[in-house]
Amino acid sequence: MNLDLFGKNALVCGGSKGIGKACAIQLASLGASVTLVSRSPDLMSEVVSEMEMNIEKGQDHDWLKVDFQDIDDLRKRIKTIVSNKNYQILINNTGGPAGGPILNAEVEEFKAAFSQHLLCNHTIVQLLKKGMIESGYGRIINIISTSVKAPLDNLGVSNTIRGAVASWAKTMANELGVYGITVNNVLPGFTDTQRLKDLFGSRAEKMGISYEELAEQFKTSVPLDRIGRPEEVGAAAAFLASPAASYITGINMPVDGGRTRSL
Ligand SMILES: NC(=O)c1ccc[n+]([C@@H]2O[C@H](COP(=O)([O-])OP(=O)(O)OC[C@H]3O[C@@H](n4cnc5c(N)ncnc54)[C@H](OP(=O)(O)O)[C@@H]3O)[C@@H](O)[C@H]2O)c1
Repeated sequence: MNLDLFGKNALVCGGSKGIGKACAIQLASLGASVTLVSRSPDLMSEVVSEMEMNIEKGQDHDWLKVDFQDIDDLRKRIKTIVSNKNYQILINNTGGPAGGPILNAEVEEFKAAFSQHLLCNHTIVQLLKKGMIESGYGRIINIISTSVKAPLDNLGVSNTIRGAVASWAKTMANELGVYGITVNNVLPGFTDTQRLKDLFGSRAEKMGISYEELAEQFKTSVPLDRIGRPEEVGAAAAFLASPAASYITGINMPVDGGRTRSL
């Protein structure tokens, strides 16, 4: 099976921690040269030092400081880096919207999440598309959520925006297929990252129980009977980025230990 990513450049959004970091590490282990994107230079420098790098085979990693809440700045910065090199792999990923019931959500929260998730993805794809076509290789992988298949309680804004991103991605897959560019979604379940700690932590506090007790309760809904590890999500993304996944496009791939009950 061909998983070789030497000679390929990958742009990994939200690469400073959690699932994005795990994607970066897995892509680098297959040979890709990775550019991390987030707001945290210090964390990204650490991730760069953790990633495998075979200099003899031309592998090189770097990072770009961007805040996805400023879409004009994002466009400017991505434009600059794509003027120097083509990217063949894109991992669209950023921080999830705050939790809470949908009825309590303010209009501004929906606007901010739509911009940070969908409009940022769209802007980056528009800027990277030319390089993917020139390279004859394109893999776009969006880290979304299992809420694409079944809305999750207490994540009103997130559930809404995830559906929009999934529909955007499916439409993109239809349009970009002619260039051999694939577009797929990875849907993480409960994954042990800062995001999960924040969500579980605030919910546990409201319920008057400990984080560990709440995590134990959530675990019972997972057939594999445990919380996932970021590298398990990263591995799915790296496979979809590889030559081996050349005939897979327009799909949702849950990495959730079986928690989503729909097919
Ligand atoms: N963990 C889970 O259980 C789970 C389950 C389902 C779906 N997901 C989704 O998967 C995605 C990644 O989750 P995660 O658990 O890895 O989250 P995380 O640990 O909070 O990491 C989020 C990443 O996004 C970056 N980021 C956040 N806001 C940003 C901004 N405004 N501009 C630039 N970068 C930004 C963060 O970088 P900086 O803070 O350094 O800028 C970080 O690298 C999220 O959409 C999340 O909702 C997670």
